[in-house]
Amino acid sequence: MEKDDKKKLRSSNWFGRTGKDGFIYRAWMKNQGIPDYEFNNKPVIGICNTWSELTPCNGHFRELAESVKKGIWEAGGFPVEFPVMSLGETIMKPTAMLYRNLASMDVEESIRANPLDGVVLLCGCDKTTPSLVMGACSVDIPTIVVSGGPMLTGKYRGKNIGTSDIWRYHDDVREGKLENAELRNIEAAMCRSDGHCAVMGTASSMACMVEALGLSLPENAAIPAADARRKVLAQLSGIRIVEMVKEDLKLSDILTIKAFENAIKVNAAIGGSTNFVIHLLAIAGRIGVPLKLEDFNRLSANIPLIANLQPSGKHFMEDLFYAGGLPAVLKELKDILNNDVITVNGKTVGENYQKAQNYDNDVIGSVGRPFNDATGLAILSGNLAENGAVIKPSAASAHLMKHTGKAVVFENIEDYKARIDTDALEVDESCILVLKNVGPRGYPGMPEVGNMGLPKKLLEKEVKDMVRISDGRMSGTGFGTVVLHVSPEAAMGGNFSVIENGDMISLDVQNRSLTVAISDEELEKRKKNRKVIPPIVDRGYVNLYVNHVQQAHLGADMDFLRGKSGSEVTRDSH
Ligand code: FES
Ligand code: MG
Repeated sequence: MEKDDKKKLRSSNWFGRTGKDGFIYRAWMKNQGIPDYEFNNKPVIGICNTWSELTPCNGHFRELAESVKKGIWEAGGFPVEFPVMSLGETIMKPTAMLYRNLASMDVEESIRANPLDGVVLLCGCDKTTPSLVMGACSVDIPTIVVSGGPMLTGKYRGKNIGTSDIWRYHDDVREGKLENAELRNIEAAMCRSDGHCAVMGTASSMACMVEALGLSLPENAAIPAADARRKVLAQLSGIRIVEMVKEDLKLSDILTIKAFENAIKVNAAIGGSTNFVIHLLAIAGRIGVPLKLEDFNRLSANIPLIANLQPSGKHFMEDLFYAGGLPAVLKELKDILNNDVITVNGKTVGENYQKAQNYDNDVIGSVGRPFNDATGLAILSGNLAENGAVIKPSAASAHLMKHTGKAVVFENIEDYKARIDTDALEVDESCILVLKNVGPRGYPGMPEVGNMGLPKKLLEKEVKDMVRISDGRMSGTGFGTVVLHVSPEAAMGGNFSVIENGDMISLDVQNRSLTVAISDEELEKRKKNRKVIPPIVDRGYVNLYVNHVQQAHLGADMDFLRGKSGSEVTRDSH
């Protein structure tokens, strides 16, 4: 051990014991054919696996885990793979986000309760990354992330396609331009290999986040799942985690405020998902770094879009890898990053990108030659969102960045679905669509419905975008002039909860403001007359969730999960 030569391995509290306890801790492990020498003071490394056939983005993780194991053995460690709750973004109802905090509890308790000295987190599909990182932060032992990698770019009839195209195809079907039968063929063409969504959606943003935070080896973010080099990275990560245990290099040594600042700047430059905000705030809350929603504005303000990737741009994650990967992006940002922060490989961010090269200027630009002057993220405030709201300017329409329009209000998602395509709906393209009660508590879990489709009658007039405002989220693959995460959400009874049809709302992204032309007196009067009915959930996890989830501007973590309980070895089991 380098930090403290005499420090015992955590796992020795199990496997280093004599007598009855040592017997119990070792004997049942040996039924798996494990030789006695494995228990001889070797670093025990957990491989926290989110493999599941219900999380197809992580469907290749059993193989990936084998590559990690090779590395751990090679470096003299003892690998033990264990499953945790896996969150399949596309399958889980009402939204995988409802279970992010639950999965994080599973991860935290699984690590703490077991004889682990270090852990490798296998993350892929959207919520599997933040849930694992959050849980691991609350324990804080040496930890490295291996992402599963993006899918190969979808190919359909000579065109490159990816997840962001779903929203376009959906509109095409509604307008009668595309048959459902053809849509069914596109399914298999889009998802044609192992891996997570191939655009800069939430999964890719999370993979970039962990690399920018220094939690993974360089290049982790972009190597496609199907590329053999993904396995190499997994094996090298296995080697490295054993060394990290010897160096006692923990998450809290890496996750300093400077690392968080880097992640925010990188997310702005790559046009990362708006979900990044919520997840990073939650991670900061676990490790104890005082990060605030306003910090995202301060740090992102002058950072233009330098990654030409969908949904903000045109290319796919595979292209980013061939263009030099995230290290090449980091190198382009060298003047604005904290280059001296340490990462999991023991080197600094600056050292890690030193040899990187930008091989394709159409995929990776530079601060002086961006693809869009608009940044990837802006935090709005004003009397419509007392505690803030989020917009992704790089994926929005320039002509709507400063816009005032009449509110067309939907009280909840059912109301929206019932009326959006009716002739009776009074709406034109200058209106602002408002969707309430899709926040963390109001629609437990805060679903990705914020980029709600436009009214059919406006689509038929070739209207492509409108300002839309909600207390929900949108998929990281979504686009449009969409204001999200309004806090406090409608279910908490703030100003947003009392917006009515016809109220004049003003969005001014340049000035970061979101306001409604109603006096404070009128807002107070409306709030007094409005009964907020909190969601009633009788039992189970969802009951726990609605009673403890915090608002979006705090990361939507549970109040009792903030902070960490550490890696203390608790009492014996027998
Ligand atoms: Fe899993 Fe997009 S659905 S990453
Ligand atoms: Mg999603």
